[in-house]
Amino acid sequence: MLKAGILGCGAICQRRHAKEIAANRNCTLHGVFDPVTERAELVAGLYGGKVYKSADELLDDKDLDVVVVCTPNKYHARYTIKALENKKHVLCEKPMAGNLKDAQDMIDAAERSGMKLMIGQSQRLVPAHKMAREIIKSGKIGKVLTFSTTFGHRGAEGWSIEGKPSTWFFKKEEAIFGAMGDIGVHKADLIRYILGEEFCEAAAIIATRDKKYESGELIDVDDNAVCVLKTKSGVVGTLTVSWTYYGGEDNSTIIRGDKGALKIFVNPDSPILIEYADKTVEKIDAGTIQTNEKQTDSGVMDLFVNHILENTPVDISGYEGYKALEVIVKCVESAQTKSTVKF
Ligand SMILES: NC(=O)c1ccc[n+]([C@@H]2O[C@H](COP(=O)([O-])OP(=O)(O)OC[C@H]3O[C@@H](n4cnc5c(N)ncnc54)[C@H](O)[C@@H]3O)[C@@H](O)[C@H]2O)c1
Repeated sequence: MLKAGILGCGAICQRRHAKEIAANRNCTLHGVFDPVTERAELVAGLYGGKVYKSADELLDDKDLDVVVVCTPNKYHARYTIKALENKKHVLCEKPMAGNLKDAQDMIDAAERSGMKLMIGQSQRLVPAHKMAREIIKSGKIGKVLTFSTTFGHRGAEGWSIEGKPSTWFFKKEEAIFGAMGDIGVHKADLIRYILGEEFCEAAAIIATRDKKYESGELIDVDDNAVCVLKTKSGVVGTLTVSWTYYGGEDNSTIIRGDKGALKIFVNPDSPILIEYADKTVEKIDAGTIQTNEKQTDSGVMDLFVNHILENTPVDISGYEGYKALEVIVKCVESAQTKSTVKF
């Protein structure tokens, strides 16, 4: 039985990881830490395990096999590297780090230690997204020409356990990025995953339009962005993110090829819709996607536990986390320099 510890007992811990550890028959929750002790006590009370007094006490616990890092982004690299050095497998939430150097250090620490590192790029595990990858591989929509992918909802303050404009998600110091790092990184990873290729060029406009601190000042991270991206094979498309979709969430992706269009989570009645060039339409029921209001089992913890027990290479590895983060970093660079960035 693998013993897991969780750092950070906020929304993703409570709504996903603690629950999914408790439901896995090969893993048990051994303990948790959160600087807000009541949150740690709540999670330990619901799912078992002890409450550590500090992050270091958890990271130094020789009994732990697995550490799940679900803290504000600023701490991801530091905690992950220490856990790996202490011979623990690590599941670290996205974005894996606040910069590419830290992300590379995390990958190197995993290699040195021989322990497994997985990044919580959970959109890949959504059944409709897995199916989309297979559809693209099968050639059903032909040669891929362009795409558009969007992730927008009403904002991180409605999701975070802190539930108010003082959430860390709105502070550059702790979050490093705004909506781009929170939800843009999901879509950057998703398109890489579905198309099976890497991006090499980015041009982005990134803005803070609406979110404010309690003082009434605009937040110091982005709440909206539109990015134009190009893949190595020449596919061009747009990635749009927003924390200000007050009229309802949008988590849709459209991939267009020379034989038709693959639409994912565009039509509420049909998670996958293929509109062929000859005007025929194929509807595929591939299940739903988690929304901020409705969480379903993500499969992240089950996958990680299987990787550890079966000693298989991690599907959503540090490298995958790095490449998704790289897209966000390059988009930020493009927005700041008002130029197209090649990478
Ligand atoms: N994969 C996904 O779909 C997904 C979804 C949501 C959040 N996330 C990621 O999970 C991470 C946590 O997000 P969240 O939504 O749970 O945020 P949250 O605001 O709900 O909770 C964060 C928790 O971390 C605690 N914390 C702060 N500093 C800490 C420290 N030094 N050590 C330990 N704990 C600390 C806070 O007290 C809080 O309880 C973020 O990196 C976020 O991007 C991933």
